[in-house]
Amino acid sequence: MVNEDSFLNLADMTAVRGFFVDNVLGDLDATLAVAENTDGGIYPAGSVVQLFPGEAMVKREAGFSPATNDWEFFELVPSAAGTEIRVRGGAEAVNQFGGSCADCHQAADPEFDLICEQDHGCEPLPIGRDLIELAQQSDPRPRLDAAS
Ligand code: HEC
Repeated sequence: MVNEDSFLNLADMTAVRGFFVDNVLGDLDATLAVAENTDGGIYPAGSVVQLFPGEAMVKREAGFSPATNDWEFFELVPSAAGTEIRVRGGAEAVNQFGGSCADCHQAADPEFDLICEQDHGCEPLPIGRDLIELAQQSDPRPRLDAAS
């Protein structure tokens, strides 16, 4: 079951080369084994990947969405109250600008399991690393250790 409680402040996820990972099934080691392998790999079920506080990819169970390698795409609304899910889905998911998540991410070379980063074959994002890092550091969601 993946819901708004599945998502954390990026600072409570594990940083890998500028993006952040977690595993909602508790198998963070299996997710990290793929994320840290620069030759790529197929992410295990439960993997959560985020670059921005407002977008996430979650690897669902086998057969969930063959067209997207079983990734579910999320557009999130992060706030001090937590995470709200605005959009979720497989190949049909579009972001707030009408862009198809899958269209861009499917351009990644096959060994990278739809993960773009900066050198996996996707069109680069039209914003610089400095703005990406600013967005990452501005995640408004509560931290785990600050939970009351
Ligand atoms: C215009 C193309 C485009 C669209 C549309 C798009 N993405 Fe991405 N996305 C990228 C690129 C390129 C990167 C890598 C950016 C970087 O690391 O510099 C990326 C990075 C990511 C990452 C970090 C892991 C990775 O692949 O590097 C996640 C998670 C992500 N996007 C989710 C989404 C979701 C969810 C949507 C839809 C709501 C979406 N993206 C829509 C192009 C796109």
